[in-house]
Amino acid sequence: MGLSQSKPFNKNTRSLLKLTQERRTHYKLLGKSPISDDDLETLIRNATKHVPTAWNTQSSRVVLLLKDEHTKVWDIAISVIEGLVKAGAVPKEMFENYTKPKLEAFKAAYGTILLFVDYESLEATKEKFAIYADKVDTFALEANAMAEYLIWLSLQSEGLGASLQHYNPLIDDQVAKTWDIPSSWKLEGQMVFGTPGEKIEEKEFDPIEQRFKVYGK
Ligand SMILES: Cc1cc2nc3c(=O)[nH]c(=O)nc-3n(C[C@H](O)[C@H](O)[C@H](O)COP(=O)(O)O)c2cc1C
Repeated sequence: MGLSQSKPFNKNTRSLLKLTQERRTHYKLLGKSPISDDDLETLIRNATKHVPTAWNTQSSRVVLLLKDEHTKVWDIAISVIEGLVKAGAVPKEMFENYTKPKLEAFKAAYGTILLFVDYESLEATKEKFAIYADKVDTFALEANAMAEYLIWLSLQSEGLGASLQHYNPLIDDQVAKTWDIPSSWKLEGQMVFGTPGEKIEEKEFDPIEQRFKVYGK
């Protein structure tokens, strides 16, 4: 029996457990959404605002791209990698058979969320907490990951699927130019989302006993 059916938990916890268990990576995504763009904006805005950051630095920056703005990011990725093919840095066959179809599939989705860290916003914290200075960037990435996960679950909760991509730094310059991104924002992830277009295969798990322990129970 799955954890989500476990008796002791209240309704909210059961919903949360169910969402965490059902969230998966979806590559085939349709260009439609069961919820409005306003509601999407509310969900992403909520994650951006409420996810914790080390020392409350609020270092994550998030850009929601919909419709033509969403397709632009994947056209950028295609043209940048096409450039690499022409320069001989990426094999043509690999691009044509593998990379391009994958990027076209992202383009066919409903939207893309760009996640950045504003590294300039961390400078004062690095000075103030000098002994942790070398950890601050890592903490900022951890906070970004928390935002990504909350967004992923929020989308899942509303019937959307998503995948997390990393075409940075290849696309950074074009992205910055296209959406007027401040130079201190560094692109760290791209989440593509839309209505799931296919059933996802079961995932295999390592024995949880090797990964989780409890003492003192
Ligand atoms: C931090 C992180 C980075 C990831 N980066 C990528 C990526 O660049 N491209 C990709 O296709 N999937 C990426 N994934 C998705 C993982 O491959 C996927 O989550 C994992 O295989 C488990 O599958 P599931 O999401 O269906 O549970 C990433 C996931 C995480 C958590």
